[in-house]
Order: sequence, then C-alpha cells, then structure tokens
Amino acid sequence: MLSLKVPLRDAERARRALVDSSLLDRDYVVDKDKQHIFFPLTREPPANFMESSWSVVEHPHNKLAGSECRGLKFPAMDIVGTIAIIEGSEEEARKIAPLIVKCIPSVETVLRKAGPMEGQFRTRKFFHVFGKETMETVYKENGVRISLDVSKTYFSPRLSTERARIAALVRKGENVAVLFGGVAPFALVIAKKCPSCNIISVELNEDAHSYAVKNIELNKFTNVKALHMDVKELKRADKYKGWADRIIMPLPKDVVSFLDVAAYMARPGATLHIYIFASSPKEALSLLATKLDELNVGWEHMGTRECGNYSPTTSRYVVDIKLL
Ligand SMILES: C[S@@+](CC[C@H](N)C(=O)[O-])C[C@H]1O[C@@H](n2cnc3c(N)ncnc32)[C@H](O)[C@@H]1O
Repeated sequence: MLSLKVPLRDAERARRALVDSSLLDRDYVVDKDKQHIFFPLTREPPANFMESSWSVVEHPHNKLAGSECRGLKFPAMDIVGTIAIIEGSEEEARKIAPLIVKCIPSVETVLRKAGPMEGQFRTRKFFHVFGKETMETVYKENGVRISLDVSKTYFSPRLSTERARIAALVRKGENVAVLFGGVAPFALVIAKKCPSCNIISVELNEDAHSYAVKNIELNKFTNVKALHMDVKELKRADKYKGWADRIIMPLPKDVVSFLDVAAYMARPGATLHIYIFASSPKEALSLLATKLDELNVGWEHMGTRECGNYSPTTSRYVVDIKLL
C-alpha cells in the first residue's frame, strides 16, 4: 500500500505532520527497517508536505491486530514519548484509554487534561486514566532525546516543526540565546544541528531547569548551557550584553514586556524569533512594533508565520525580526 518512507530520526516529526494533515491510515501497523520507518497513507501527500529525505513508496502493512483496533478513530491527542494526552469527559476517557494503549504500540500511559495551562510556568494538571502511573517520559524529535515531567514543566510536541525551522536557520559559530527555555527543546535541536554554536537556555521554573540540565547530559552536548534565572535578570549580566546573534523568545503571552532584554543581549544584526498570541499576523507585528519603537532600536521585519492555535479567535504567531 501507499507509504511514507522517512529516516528513523524524523519518525516523530513525520508522524505528527501526517496526523495533523489526516494522511496517516490508522487501520494499519506502522512498519520499519534498520534505517527507515514506513507510515501507511490514506492518500498521496501534497508536494509541499515532503522533505528531501522523505519518499512515497509502495510497502506492505499488516492490518492492526485485534478487532478492537480495526478502523478505530481516536480523538485528537498529543503523544509525548510513552504518554498519550487526551481531553474530554472522564467517561469517554475511561472507554478509549485502554484501546489507545492497546492499539498505539509506543503508548504506555493515558492522561486526561484536568484544566488549562496555568501560572508563570505554564504548567497543567492531569488525571491518570490508564496504564503505567507516571507523568515522566522521554520524547524523541529532530534527532534529540528530551526527558520531562508533563505535569511539572511546559512542553509541546506541536512545536517540533518550528524547532526544526529555527535550527535550519542557524549559521556556524553563532551565539544563540533561548529565553524561556523550558526543558530546553529549542536549545537541544539547535545544538544538534550546530555543534560550533554557543547556546544558552534560560528558565525560571526549577523543575524545567533540572530537566534541561539532564537533557544536555542525556544528549552529550557540550555546546549548551542551562541557566536557572529570571530572564529579566539578564540585563544585569555584563557577559551577555551584545552577546547574541540569535534570540528565541517562546513566551507568547507576555513576550512584549521582555523585548528590552532582547535589545540588551543582541549584537547589531542579530535575529529575534518572537512568539506572540494575536488575532492576525498584522496584530502580532503591530504589538511588537510599538514596543520596539518605544525602545528606540532599529529593526526590520523578516517574516511572520502562524504556528498554533490558542483559542478560536487567537493564534500563536512567530515574528522574525532583524535588529539593525
Ligand atoms: C511557553 S513555555 C516555553 C518553554 C520551551 N521554550 C518550549 O518550547 O517547550 C514558557 C517558559 O518560560 C518560563 N518562564 C516564564 N517566565 C519566565 C521568566 N521571567 N524567566 C525565565 N523563564 C520564564 C516558564 O516557566 C516556561 O517554562
């Protein structure tokens, strides 16, 4: 049957992209050999879906074992390593959770969201529904391993394509600052792509910082440093004044109030990748433009992309800015 063949290192990113585009045929078992993974497809993917190392091939797939799995359509969920995260009522969750564990081979635990993301650390509570009782897992993407506790730290697998985009922009030898670094996913993906770069990942949540330190060790990277501090304090660190060639700011709710820190840390010509919630790309840019002008810095707009929904009327945008 029609399959997407991708290198093993791209498996999680490709799976997510296929799910997002309804291209993954969930009635069949995903297959792999030593170097590739084969995803059964519902139809031919559009040309702009493909990456240079991915190809569409004919590949035999077995139907999912067990009549319970056959033809089953699962609700929208996030899979973070061995943990599936679902929404909805307790009753629905109890019904579907055993099937999720049975039919998705990588999943060992099913959690249900117990509320929205809250507080400065952007964490969320979960109910354990089925399977192994843990909130901790190791997630793989873009060739790196990311260990985390989903209830103590912010992490979104939905940003994996965005992390790959940023890593592809980074040039040899750059100094890169990831502000609001969480468990360090941006820093790790950049470190993998650019061994000659110097990267810092700055995070205030002690749990997220501890996982960032652990993840740097787990991936054996020597080009990333995790800093446990409030980003605001960086303005007191002489060492980082005019240091950064690139600054990544994934704090979409409050990012405007930290643009002064980015201006302090940036070298002339530095690139900022700023994540912000807004109702349109125009509004996203205008919120940032007002503050950048107030700070009296020269800047140039390089582009704006939507990278996720927040509510029916609000999206997360990333605005790329060059400081002059
Ligand atoms: C939206 S999350 C992004 C995390 C990570 N970059 C990622 O993509 O997974 C924002 C992070 O900023 C951290 N944070 C919030 N305010 C902060 C501050 N003033 N200084 C440092 N970190 C902060 C939160 O704890 C949280 O981990």
